[in-house]
Order: sequence, then C-alpha cells, then structure tokens
Amino acid sequence: MCGIVGYIGNKDAVPILIYGLSKLEYRGYDSAGVAVYSKDSVDIVKTKGRLAFLEDRLLQNPLYGNLGIGHTRWATHGAPSDINSHPHVSKKNKFAVVHNGIIENYMHLKDELKAAGYSFASDTDTETVAHLIDFYYKEGLTFEDAVFKAIERIEGSYALAIMCEDFPDKIIAARKDSPLIIGLGEDENFVASDVTAILNYTRNVHFLGEKEVAVVKKDSVEVFDKDKNKISKEISRIDWDIEAAEKGGYDYFMLKEINEQAKVVRDTLAPRLKESHIELDGINIGKKIKNINKIYMVACGTAFYASLIGKSLIEKYCRIPVIAEVASEFRYNNPLIDESSLVILVSQSGETADTLAALRLAKSKSARVLAVVNVVGSTIAREADDVLYTHAGPEIAVASTKAFSAQVAAMYLVAIHFGMELDKILEKEYCEYKTELEKLPSLIDNILTKSHNIEELAGKYLDVKNVFYIGRGLDLIISYEGSLKLKELAYIHSEAYAAGELKHGPIALIEDSTLIIGNATVENLLEKTISNLKECKARGAKVLAIAMDDCEALGDAADDVFFIPRIKSEFAPLLANIPQQVFAYYMAYLLGHDVDKPRNLAKSVTVE
Ligand code: F6R
Repeated sequence: MCGIVGYIGNKDAVPILIYGLSKLEYRGYDSAGVAVYSKDSVDIVKTKGRLAFLEDRLLQNPLYGNLGIGHTRWATHGAPSDINSHPHVSKKNKFAVVHNGIIENYMHLKDELKAAGYSFASDTDTETVAHLIDFYYKEGLTFEDAVFKAIERIEGSYALAIMCEDFPDKIIAARKDSPLIIGLGEDENFVASDVTAILNYTRNVHFLGEKEVAVVKKDSVEVFDKDKNKISKEISRIDWDIEAAEKGGYDYFMLKEINEQAKVVRDTLAPRLKESHIELDGINIGKKIKNINKIYMVACGTAFYASLIGKSLIEKYCRIPVIAEVASEFRYNNPLIDESSLVILVSQSGETADTLAALRLAKSKSARVLAVVNVVGSTIAREADDVLYTHAGPEIAVASTKAFSAQVAAMYLVAIHFGMELDKILEKEYCEYKTELEKLPSLIDNILTKSHNIEELAGKYLDVKNVFYIGRGLDLIISYEGSLKLKELAYIHSEAYAAGELKHGPIALIEDSTLIIGNATVENLLEKTISNLKECKARGAKVLAIAMDDCEALGDAADDVFFIPRIKSEFAPLLANIPQQVFAYYMAYLLGHDVDKPRNLAKSVTVE
C-alpha cells in the first residue's frame, strides 16, 4: 500500500504533489519522491524516510515545472532506501513511474529485460514497469500503446502514474486491484490513490475501473478500457471532508482496515501460490528444514495468536514438534534451542521489544530465525536469517486486524511450504489446499457484507460485563484473538477458555448476565463444543455462536448465531475471526470509545 499523486496544469507542480503526499502518508511513510518535468527533462528527487525528509531535499534541490508525479512508499519489494524509493525510471529518465501494488511476475520480467540489455538500479518490482514500457516504446509503439502492452504483461496489482520525457503534455494512469482516481479541475487535472490528496483543489473525480487506462492532459482526460476502447466515465462529486476521506469514508481506521482484509489476504497469498508449489520470497531454508528437529513460535499479543495457528498447522502438515511461547516469557525461560532449532517470530511492526530480544537470544544460541513481518526493513526483518513479508500495508489503528489476517495467511504458506519440502504434502494435496486458500478473500468479503447483523448483536449485548470466548482446537485459538479484541477495544472483561476446560473451574463464574461467544467451526469437534455451549446455556448464560452455514448440529444451543461460509475447518479461523473483529469494533463504537486509540495502548511496543 503506497500513495500516488500526479498533477498537470499551469501551476507549480511540487507544492501540489507535496500537499497530496502529506494527505496520503497514512498509506505508507518509509520513503517519498517526486518526478517533475522541468524544461525538457524529467528530474527526480526521492529519499528514504518520511515526507519531511523529501521536503528538505527539495529545499536543497528545488524542482520547477507544471507536470509531476509523486509517491509515498510502504515497502514490499526491497527495503526502504533512497534507491528503492519511487519514482523509478528507465534509462536516462525517459519514463518515470510511481506504483502502488505488487507485480507478481516481476522476477520473470526482470530476467527478460536483463537479457534484452536493461540494467536495474533498485530491488523493487516497480522498476520493471519503467523498463518494460521503455522496451515497447523503443520497439516503435506510441507512449499509450507501450503502456497498454506493458500492463498486459504484468501479473498482480497496480495503480500506476507514468510520465515520459517526450510528452510534456500528459500523464498516463492505469489500475488493477489498487485504487486510483482522476481529479478534474479547470485547466488542470490530477491523479491520486485517493481523494484526500486532491480535495483541496477539486471535488470532481473519475474513479478508474479495473484495468482502465487514463490519458490525463491539463485540459482533457480520456479513459480507455483494457481493449483500448475509449469509454465515457461518470463524474462523481465528493462531499466528504478531508478527515473522513483519509479513512475512506469510514468512522475509524480500524473499520477501514477490517474492510481491507480480503485484499490483504490476497496480496499475501497470491504472489506465493504457484501452480504446483509455494514459492516463498526471502526464505532460503528449503530442504534444510529436514535438519530442523524443533520449532519455536514466538510473538506478542495478536501476533502470538497467529503464531498459535502456525503451530497447529506446522504440526499437522510437517509433523515437527512446535512450541509456542509469548516473547516476554521465551526470552527469560532459557529455551532449549540450538542449531537444529528454528525460531519463527511473528510481528506486524518488526520492532516489538520482547520479540526482538527473543530473536537476539535465538541467534546467540545458533538457532535459525525466520521472521514473518509486515514492516519491510524493520529491525526484526533486518536481523532475521529469513523473512517472509505479510503484505498488509500500514496498519494505523492500534488494535491489529488486517495484519493478523495477513499473518495467518502467512502461517498457511509457511506450514504448507515446509510440508512439501519434507515430502509430507503431495502435489495433489497442495492443489486442494491452494483451492481453499484462494477462496478466502471472496469469503471474507462475503462475511463483511453482513456486518450490519453483527452491529445489531453488539447493540443487543452492549450491557454485558463478563464474556467467555470458547472453542476447541483452532476454534480455541481464534477465541483468544476475539477475546483480546473485546478487552482492548470495549474494555469489557473477557476470557478465552478451552471449551472442555470450563467444567474444571471457570463454569462457576457463569450466571444469567454472562455472554458466551462460542466458536464452532472445527467439524470433528463440533458435537463436543456444542455440548459445552449447552452446559453454559443451562446455567443462564446467553450464547452467541459463530458457526459455518447450515450447521444443523447447533440446534437450539445458541441464542444467536453468526454464520460464516463453509470451508475446510483448518481454513476457517481467518473467516471466524472477521465477525469477532466487527463485534469488538461495534461494542467499542457504541460505548463511545476511541476505537483507533484504545486507552493505555500503543501501536508499536518498543519497551519491555
Ligand atoms: C492487539 C495488538 C497487539 C500486537 C502486539 C505485537 O490488537 O495489536 O497485541 O499484536 O503488540 O505487535 P507486533 O505484531 O507489532 O509485534
């Protein structure tokens, strides 16, 4: 997730680009850059770090011109650095490109371009686009046709704004699976990732559709479909204020992030799920996994619950013993690890103090360290032996939602990948798992269309003082996450408990006002979980169940049920968690709490 802005008109482009980028910084803030057409060349200023760094650079090296593109980056391929910052250019700055998204086949395209004599300056997927357009342009295609040809070759997601040294009168914009809008002004037009970047100048926009391409000049905008047919686009008038627009019209970033989860899961899975195997960029363990006799999963908070799912999957697919431990305990427990151990750390920020300490301890004992991290170039990512990035984009709300879903998606990738390397998963089974994994994004969206039902349930249970989340197997793990979200957002006391353990003590706490949230998606344990729900109901508790569509076994065990679409049980946690997130969100929202900034919490816990 990055931010793109483009301007063409009569005004000085740089201040407009910088203003736009300042409104897009929430989409990414590890580096920023601009390209401006000044006199007869395309000039670039870009830098690692926040936008303020770019502004400093521009003071030292000002750029003047009426056409420009800008970018604020959230790294996916290549660590944050000056060279990896956008815009990326082809030779002698003929083409300059800013990009949001992931080019899945960039390695293949890069090899092809290298063979054709192109050399690459950065580690990014985006640079491939600049060279690819240049390649087709040099073959004699027009600027427009070279862009069409290049995007035909690209697999993955993209929002692109492109300028060419030979055409000081146009920006070409294109999108697939990443948002892009065209802002329409008087003798000036804009390109942007979202309306926040341009609301100061215009409220009239075209929302570019999938695979559409726009040729943006200062006094005209032409839009083409993927077959190069010119299409007429509706002008939408934006009435939101800037603050609402940054949140995409949602009241809170958390709700926006909840609603981004289908995309995040797709972005994490799709580039890695190949025809007959999983390809994990950044992981070089490969067959050496055969030398590993023990795995530790170490993380904090929500990331720890993703790790627990990882433990369950790795033990199932790889038959290697896995110990999961919170980082704050692991680091002081003198863990039994050596060079035949693998320690897998999971962290959104890549900066969590306890997780980082766990990493350093593991390395000091010669264990191999694999980090599953969201923030590219973070300390944990840099110090680990292998890194698998989740492609969740920046998570602004303190409570983790989309990053968790991306972490869980990554757990499937790691477990299945190792299972195949160990010859414990055959290609045929892989294909079955792949089919299930590929269903997840659309099933997540399907659940989110029913969010209003959960909002009603939150209203119904707003007065509860004690909540138990219960389940068995993976349902228990996802209960931990549900309970954490409710605690931290709604400030309601809640516990997650193994459904079968209730009768060994905690059932004494159950009374008329207790709410039980029962996760009941693990097919082979369903009857048992349902019996436990009935035991709670018989003692006066209210029961809200999360079950798969057509779950007849549930009978009258629950007062309310939220149904999720059917899927193989081992892939259900990601789906069952969505209503839990939405429930916690609405409980907090209806109670009037600041959902994005719960009390006493911080986004990145860099102290012990
Ligand atoms: C809860 C939450 C925290 C984090 C934890 C680890 O919603 O966000 O529990 O999961 O602080 O943070 P990272 O993943 O950055 O290491």
